Amino acid sequence: MRERLTGTYYEPFLGGGAVFFRLRPAKAVLSDINPELINTYRIVRNSVEEIVPLLKRMAVNKRNYNRLRRAEPESPIQRAVRFLYLNRTAFGGIYRLNLRGEFNVPYGGGERKPNILWERPLLKNAADALATADIRVTDFEAMIDLAKAGDVVYCDPTYTVAHDNNGFIRYNEKNFSWADQHRLACSAHRASQRGVGVIISNANHRTIRKLYPGARILVAERPSLVSCDVSKRRSVEELFILL
Ligand SMILES: C[S@@+](CC[C@H](N)C(=O)[O-])C[C@H]1O[C@@H](n2cnc3c(N)ncnc32)[C@H](O)[C@@H]1O
Repeated sequence: MRERLTGTYYEPFLGGGAVFFRLRPAKAVLSDINPELINTYRIVRNSVEEIVPLLKRMAVNKRNYNRLRRAEPESPIQRAVRFLYLNRTAFGGIYRLNLRGEFNVPYGGGERKPNILWERPLLKNAADALATADIRVTDFEAMIDLAKAGDVVYCDPTYTVAHDNNGFIRYNEKNFSWADQHRLACSAHRASQRGVGVIISNANHRTIRKLYPGARILVAERPSLVSCDVSKRRSVEELFILL
């Protein structure tokens, strides 16, 4: 796919950027609505040598974790260090904010540690992959609207809080509402009409399929590993919608 992609690759729900880091396209516009996440990617790209020693210095224990969870550092580097430390030491690596916008995932117990980030050259590799990427904090719609004929957009929206293969799905109205699903479908159709290749991963549910009439739809199964409740970690079906 990398060879066939001659235009720009857009990933407007970047999160952990699994597809971007796998593809490593030559031209990429990466974005997410989460400013802490995007700040971290920018710092990894621009200042990876500075953050590794800062991370190495931080002991992994509940006291440090809770202190950092409460902290609101101002410098972009310290914010990125906080983000990476919390991401590597939080329960299940989950990212969740409460209604006041505060990170509220409990300590993971010390099993997950940041060491992997430098013991394997993960941050350095990420910095290399991000070197030429345009990285922005923004809502997805403005980014999809930028894409032109020959570009490819991959969308992996936040879509549910409960994922049930038996036909019931609960939308997370705060994080990604049903109105957002409509906005996504409309901007995807507009982009497709301009000659943009659009791929969307989403829940396998009839309400979602109805938003994409005429699209090619593939069904895939994957393990769901991020629920706090171990009994809810099971296999879920997802759609790949190709426009
Ligand atoms: C399911 S995750 C993406 C996971 C990603 N594919 C990966 O490999 O980790 C969805 C992402 O969409 C972001 N997001 C939610 N609402 C958004 C919006 N309106 N515009 C842009 N990004 C949004 C979230 O912050 C989150 O990082």
